[in-house]
Amino acid sequence: MTEIIVVHDAERAAAAAAEIIITLLRRDPEAVLGLATGSTPLALYAELAARITTERLDVSRVIGFALDEYVGLPQEHPQSYRNVITRSVVQPLGLTPALVHVPDGGLDSLDVAGHAYEQAILAAGGVDLQILGLGTDGHIGFNEPGSSLNSATRLKTLTPQTRKDNARFFQSESEVPIHCITQGLGTILRARRLLLLAFGESKARAVAAAVEGPVTASHPASAIQLHPDATVIVDEAAAARLQNLAYYQYAYNNKPQWPSSR
Ligand code: F6R
Repeated sequence: MTEIIVVHDAERAAAAAAEIIITLLRRDPEAVLGLATGSTPLALYAELAARITTERLDVSRVIGFALDEYVGLPQEHPQSYRNVITRSVVQPLGLTPALVHVPDGGLDSLDVAGHAYEQAILAAGGVDLQILGLGTDGHIGFNEPGSSLNSATRLKTLTPQTRKDNARFFQSESEVPIHCITQGLGTILRARRLLLLAFGESKARAVAAAVEGPVTASHPASAIQLHPDATVIVDEAAAARLQNLAYYQYAYNNKPQWPSSR
């Protein structure tokens, strides 16, 4: 089932998403979180950090798995996802650094890095909740159009569109690496719950295709329709192209409150 929650703005989306994750962390202090980078989840991470402090939650045993990493970017580069995850998630939330994993984008280990990452996720018992952003070309993780719906963690080539979109984090577009290592769509679908966030008009087309389009490798985010427990939280601008918008809002406003429902 895909639940679609439309809120006024990104701030409210962050609060709604944080509520879901805090509920999980209260129930399971050893929860395994799948972590997205990029700008979309930043407000969520800030909100989580605040809630963890206020509620004095013990998150020292929480495990994390980042979705992806650039290939060939030194780990100490400010935009390596290892660094971004440390800065925006591990430190503010107070997670234990050794429990937060990022795929190895080093050129020497590419042959084995994907398999090793899959094994590490399995050894941790699988991901309980995977946070996802959405690329304007429909990618989740860095699964670009054409990615197998059952793919595992592996090397991928970023599309020129993704490199253009991510140029804002670098000095210039040419500095954005061409290759990455990313959890596959199969990896993402094995997480027990998906939480996809998307904000702004630039994501509206990709959101509509993900939620209402056909399930197709040409729009990788449409794979979430195959997941039994996916929640999509979007702001009004990102929801603008949804055909069934009124129904999603109606369903959310009439959400059953009996115990078996979340
Ligand atoms: C990041 C990732 C990507 C981003 C997507 C959206 O780990 O896997 O799928 O979520 O590119 O990026 P932003 O949030 O910067 O628009």
